[in-house]
Amino acid sequence: MLYKSSVRPLKVVMANLLTVFLLIEVFAYGYSYGQYGLNTNYYLMSSCPFVEPVVKNIVNRALQDDPTLAAGLIRMHFHDCFIEGCDGSVLIDSTKDNTAEKDSPGNLSLRGFEVIDAIKEELERQCPGVVSCADILAMAARDAVFFAGGPVYDIPKGRKDGRRSKIEDTINLPFPTFNASELIKSFGQRGFSAQEMVALSGAHTLGVARCASFKNRLKQVDPTLDAQFAKTLARTCSSGDNAPQPFDATSNDFDNVYFNALLRRNGVLTSDQTLYNSPRTRNFVNAYAFNQAMFFFDFQQAMVKMGLLDVKDNSNGEVRENCRKIN
Ligand code: HEM
Ligand SMILES: *[C@@H]1O[C@H](CO)[C@@H](O)[C@H](O)[C@H]1NC(C)=O
Ligand SMILES: *[C@@H]1O[C@H](CO)[C@@H](O)[C@H](O)[C@H]1NC(C)=O
Repeated sequence: MLYKSSVRPLKVVMANLLTVFLLIEVFAYGYSYGQYGLNTNYYLMSSCPFVEPVVKNIVNRALQDDPTLAAGLIRMHFHDCFIEGCDGSVLIDSTKDNTAEKDSPGNLSLRGFEVIDAIKEELERQCPGVVSCADILAMAARDAVFFAGGPVYDIPKGRKDGRRSKIEDTINLPFPTFNASELIKSFGQRGFSAQEMVALSGAHTLGVARCASFKNRLKQVDPTLDAQFAKTLARTCSSGDNAPQPFDATSNDFDNVYFNALLRRNGVLTSDQTLYNSPRTRNFVNAYAFNQAMFFFDFQQAMVKMGLLDVKDNSNGEVRENCRKIN
């Protein structure tokens, strides 16, 4: 009795103290992530306190001019993280001695480089040599999601920029012709579950694919493709390989219309439609199609996770002065 009554309150006091310390920790120091020293308040603590509003303002202005760039920024962050980790390697221009990632045929119309350049220029004015290009891209993608109507979320910062960008590394991106098993394997190699892979594919709620990326489904019409929609895709392709086809009917809005299109067999890429046709992933597509809040929640969690892939630190990275060039 005595034992119980003295120990229980002590435990409660300890638990409360712990909560208070955790809250102080989160507000004062941000939330820390793992071995790379990433932190949600990284630049607040060091020397660039206005980094978040600067990024947000420039992204918002660019997207007000051209809302389709939201898709470009989000996709660029994905390509950055999946090749050599989130280290800004996708931003590097080719030189006479090196053909960079962005010049692979698989660059497949990456867009939004000027937005990143504009942010970098402003940040170099405010706090030279402090904010990495990899962080700028991660924040810009996050702000683009929100601008388009998607979830708002905080991301850790403190990534350093890599010094390698090679055309041959882009072979590691998933192909649009992949089936569900291949997609699960490709994302699984980077630590993602099948559900996280489906949530991330939901980024195709924004933007377009060019005919070259889906014409494989038209020669002999893919039986998983709705007959009417097959005609729509063929009409797009009649304008050539570069003709754009929106992934869904609301290609500038971040919503769950993409998943509903998959239910109607209106997926554009093989890798889109397979998510509904495979029993390994269908339940997730159904869930996201019926519950947008669930899609938003899983998407933001998976984006934070994607943003931590093979992050560089001072031992193997730098803060680039110009996002297109290694220092
Ligand atoms: C699941 C594997 C994936 C495959 C096979 C894939 C493939 C593709 C392809 C082929 C395109 C069209 C490129 C073109 O024809 O110009 C595209 C566009 C796009 N992808 Fe993915 N993608 C995948 C996952 C992702 C992920 C994880 C994200 C981001 C989190 C993403 C974001 C985008 C966006 C936003 C676009 C539209 C780009 C624009 O309109 O400029 N994709 N993707
Ligand atoms: C993508 O690569 C092609 C060559 O395959 C190149 O002409 C084009 O400029 C590249 N796009 C970007 C945005 O760098
Ligand atoms: C997916 O693709 C792989 C590799 O091409 C193939 O071995 C496998 O049978 C395919 N799976 C399905 C369900 O079609």
